[in-house]
Amino acid sequence: MNGLKHIAFIMDGNGRWAEQRGKSRSFGHERGARALEKIVSFAFSLDVAVLSFYAFSTENWSRPKREVDKILSLLFNSLVKNTEKLIKKQIRLVISGDLSVLDDVKRQKVLDVIDKTKGFDKVLNICFNYGGRNEILRAVNTALEKGLDRVDQDTFESLLYTNGLPPVDLVIRTSGEQRLSNFLLWQVAYAEMYFTPVLWPDFDEGSLKDAIAWYQERNRRFGGLK
Ligand code: IPE
Ligand code: IPE
Ligand code: MG
Repeated sequence: MNGLKHIAFIMDGNGRWAEQRGKSRSFGHERGARALEKIVSFAFSLDVAVLSFYAFSTENWSRPKREVDKILSLLFNSLVKNTEKLIKKQIRLVISGDLSVLDDVKRQKVLDVIDKTKGFDKVLNICFNYGGRNEILRAVNTALEKGLDRVDQDTFESLLYTNGLPPVDLVIRTSGEQRLSNFLLWQVAYAEMYFTPVLWPDFDEGSLKDAIAWYQERNRRFGGLK
């Protein structure tokens, strides 16, 4: 599959999807959460090893509290609802981002899912309360706290949330926007970038197949010649 191990999704357009239907943005997020669940099942069935999803950014706190609360509760409920499925399908949950914003009970539940799935090879990486710049600064500060005065690439990568995961091969952003919005800045260094006007709640199996077919045609040179 042209070395396709890791797909990273910027799930964008929930709000516009809802607005087009005269519905609340919350409704768009509900449909977005459904699309996420479907794509997880389908993508792993295609033998992709790692899936990352941008679920909530450090910048998304600037939205109205009601919308933020809705997104957070949808994510949490979806995780709780699908815990058994993750175990059954042998998918390891990784959370990239700062969980300290959750109350103790919720945080513990998330940590339990991480613990119960920790031995599995396939990885579902949910980027929650995540920002690429924050992640890089956090790695730098961890290095300093450890008393390191130099780090090489391997050491630096081991200090990122994505420690041990392969780099991103393919970024898929829905809704027509063509930017990274502070997503996995280090990990996308050589990723192929796929942008589609499809709004996230409408992104389905066929849309993913189209993206992968596009990716298969890329000539990945990594700075060399081919
Ligand atoms: C993506 O959809 C979901 C999150 C950012 C959490 P948006 O809510 O950004 O939808 P648009 O971009 O306003 O349409
Ligand atoms: C990126 O979408 C963040 C997530 C998908 C979680 P945004 O809608 O927040 O990004 P901008 O504001 O359009 O760059
Ligand atoms: Mg958006």
